[in-house]
Amino acid sequence: MRAAVVARYGPPEVVSVVDAPDPVAGKGQVLVRVRATTLNSGDARIRGCRFPRGFALPGRLALGIRGPRRAVLGGVYSGVVEAVGPGVDDVAVGDEVCGMTGAGMGAHAELVAVRADRMTPKPAGVDHEQAAAILFGGKTARHFLRDRLAPGRRVLVNGASGAVGSAAVQVAHLAGAHVTGVCSARNAELVRSLGADEVVDHASTPVLELATTYDVVLDTVGNLDRHSGLRLLSADGVLLLVAGSLADTVLARGRVRAGVSSEDPADFAWLLERLAAGELRAVVDRTLPLSDIVEAHRVVDSGRKVGNLVITP
Ligand SMILES: NC(=O)c1ccc[n+]([C@@H]2O[C@H](COP(=O)([O-])OP(=O)(O)OC[C@H]3O[C@@H](n4cnc5c(N)ncnc54)[C@H](OP(=O)(O)O)[C@@H]3O)[C@@H](O)[C@H]2O)c1
Repeated sequence: MRAAVVARYGPPEVVSVVDAPDPVAGKGQVLVRVRATTLNSGDARIRGCRFPRGFALPGRLALGIRGPRRAVLGGVYSGVVEAVGPGVDDVAVGDEVCGMTGAGMGAHAELVAVRADRMTPKPAGVDHEQAAAILFGGKTARHFLRDRLAPGRRVLVNGASGAVGSAAVQVAHLAGAHVTGVCSARNAELVRSLGADEVVDHASTPVLELATTYDVVLDTVGNLDRHSGLRLLSADGVLLLVAGSLADTVLARGRVRAGVSSEDPADFAWLLERLAAGELRAVVDRTLPLSDIVEAHRVVDSGRKVGNLVITP
């Protein structure tokens, strides 16, 4: 199969597309022919060894000292079952499925072996690109916003036009919250169309200069921390630091939440159902073939990606 391999940490040019041995579906696994995957902020962070403050050493220890031990990145897949491993009896060759690969990654390739019990059937009315594009930002938004939303609650999404932000605006809007999105002026219309009631241009009003307070502040940018973000909260407000530093993550408690979001197939099913019903939209910046993986990394590194970047192997 063809796969995008990261030989060592570095700029986008360290990634190359090579012939690699086909993975094999082990016990409880399924081999999926990947029709669409995404290149996320997480993939670019690993490739560039650029982690939130404090995570550099733990990141290298966990992922590899000079380069990622898992040389094929990519945490999201949508595709077709090509082979079924031992112990899997409720999945058939030809089924259309999607999901995330956890620490194993490996989806920036034509084939990926995944756990059958973590997959979700792809609804017929949702194409592979849309399915792949909703999962990463959608599951993160669901994880952080779970139990925090109610009609009329005032929610601030900082970084509203990115993968996580574009999903968070929609998840909060669907729950009836009053949503304010912070993004650049060029993305204001998009963020409004996703359900934001108000949009703030971060070039003219830095997030920390906002005069209002919010019941929920979800930061995907990393320019708020557990101290500075508190001044944006209402009396019982909660601060959700999606891109929090190591200190923010370790010290998060009470009104401040941080940490790594879970990859829950129940969230995937929820997102796909709403996508199929037209209640949610997967925002796609562009779709590129696997052969353009270096260009895809450059787009994500620019920090100006709008929504999601889809790769079709
Ligand atoms: N904790 C977890 O489990 C978890 C899960 C997923 C992601 N993350 C982290 O969350 C962060 C966001 O991820 P992502 O995939 O959504 O990123 P992304 O898609 O790459 O975000 C790009 C967006 O950031 C916006 N942006 C840049 N500077 C901004 C500013 N000063 N104010 C407001 N928006 C700004 C840009 O919008 P404009 O061009 O409109 O300015 C751009 O659309 C990353 O640090 C990622 O590592 C954490």
